[in-house]
Amino acid sequence: MAVELIHAEHINKSFSGVPALTDVSFSLNAGEVHALLGENGAGKSTLVKIFSGVYTKDSGTVAVCGETVEALNPQKASELGIAIIHQELNLCTHLSVAENIFLGREKTRHGLLNKRAANSEARRLLQSLNIDIDPEMVVGDLQVSKQQMVEIAKALSQNARILIMDEPTSALTSSEIKELFKIVRSLKEKNCGIIYISHRLEELQHIVDRATILRDGEYITTLNYSETNLQELISYMVGRNIKEKFPRVECTVGKKVLEVKNLNAGRLVRDISFELREGEIVGIAGLMGAGRTETTRALYGIDKKQSGEIILDGKSIDIKKPEDSIQNGIVLIPEDRKKDGLFTKLSIRNNIGMPNLDLLSNFLGIVSKNKERDMAYKCRDTLKIKLSSIESDSANLSGGNQQKVVVGKWMSRSFRVAIFDEPTRGIDVAAKVEIYNIINRLKRQGIGILFVSSELPEILGFADRILVMCDGRITGNLPGKDATQEIILDLATRFEKKIA
Ligand SMILES: Nc1ncnc2c1ncn2[C@@H]1O[C@H](COP(=O)(O)OP(=O)(O)OP(=O)(O)O)[C@@H](O)[C@H]1O
Ligand SMILES: [Mg+2]
Repeated sequence: MAVELIHAEHINKSFSGVPALTDVSFSLNAGEVHALLGENGAGKSTLVKIFSGVYTKDSGTVAVCGETVEALNPQKASELGIAIIHQELNLCTHLSVAENIFLGREKTRHGLLNKRAANSEARRLLQSLNIDIDPEMVVGDLQVSKQQMVEIAKALSQNARILIMDEPTSALTSSEIKELFKIVRSLKEKNCGIIYISHRLEELQHIVDRATILRDGEYITTLNYSETNLQELISYMVGRNIKEKFPRVECTVGKKVLEVKNLNAGRLVRDISFELREGEIVGIAGLMGAGRTETTRALYGIDKKQSGEIILDGKSIDIKKPEDSIQNGIVLIPEDRKKDGLFTKLSIRNNIGMPNLDLLSNFLGIVSKNKERDMAYKCRDTLKIKLSSIESDSANLSGGNQQKVVVGKWMSRSFRVAIFDEPTRGIDVAAKVEIYNIINRLKRQGIGILFVSSELPEILGFADRILVMCDGRITGNLPGKDATQEIILDLATRFEKKIA
């Protein structure tokens, strides 16, 4: 009989009277990876935050290693050997990698902080995990994927018996994911238990033993992974069958709307040239670090360009800052929603209104709250955003619903070009289809769409044309129908040395 590390029964939790979890049960055995699945807002993060002591349950029981634990708080959880990798990265961006890893457990020598010891121990830890990051780097300067690896290293440094991973791979490259899975397997062999939350359902088969499904805060079922399949999991998650994974619409492409000529900006944007037509979806594929996000940032005016020309509707335009882009009718839905896309301390209504103040204000510049409210409701309804009130802080939304706000706030504007950078990251299967539908609606309106994605099936299923990037250059430009995973991967690894 397997040792039970966590046994939770009849868990209830509400936020300001709105239930997030209703009578949920869950158990975790030693040596197993137990997936926790469900749509955005199903209650997954809430449940694991109860296990890690971040949230206090309203009622129900949690037993850890057979002992009922009454008042669980973060410190108590850590003493019980529970560590969590949070979905929304929880790092102090102004501190170094090593400082973050040992935060709250600082290495001291004669009562003084011992930076050198912390650095060398962090270096050892990162090396043992095959993570190539300098422990002295400031976390804010790292890419999202690297920050995620630091978050993972931090949790692993605690030698926990119970490890909770809330969307650990949402920003990782495929090789980083492989490394992570190696780590997960070795933890399993050491008889640790792992709770694994992910919307990347395809990856579960490599590591998961059992899966528990939540829907609208309720427990649905627990399955042995080897005895189920994706279709069954999805239908339990959404309560119905989802037919079309990539609802592609065919429409005739119109005239050239955007032309980028020889754009250069730093090491990762080198001589980028391409065209985008009305009603066309151009996907940008490439490995992490290929320069895809950097290209969108330079184009949009976040990063400084060294040279290059941007032509919109046949006219050369000067973009020095994002406002210039927006004025000209180019919008960007960024990759890192917490840093660039969402003001978590503001209400959902304010977040949606923010980029649209010109549409919401009268000739005196006074913003109409009513109009803003209507806009927010419309956005909520079209995207089916799960929220208790448009007035509550956007920080209170589940991860995927935050992403919907980031996408939705642009939908009230008219524009010519929309740039989506990983728009479906962390979004559940059903909501993904909703986002694809929005993009399709824009496509039918004749808007040009640039679409950066790390999920190849998504790009293949959706883009009319695919640009492939490697090392800051475009190494391929092909019609979507001619592309395959193999062709794209080959183009994505055309490093200069290999070509020479
Ligand atoms: N601190 C909070 N205050 C108010 N409501 C909250 C808070 N945390 C979560 N909720 C609400 O509880 C519900 C469940 O959210 P939770 O974050 O657990 O979802 P999730 O399953 O992790 O979703 P996702 O896949 O999008 O991350 C949501 O409706 C969310 O808005
Ligand atoms: Mg979550």
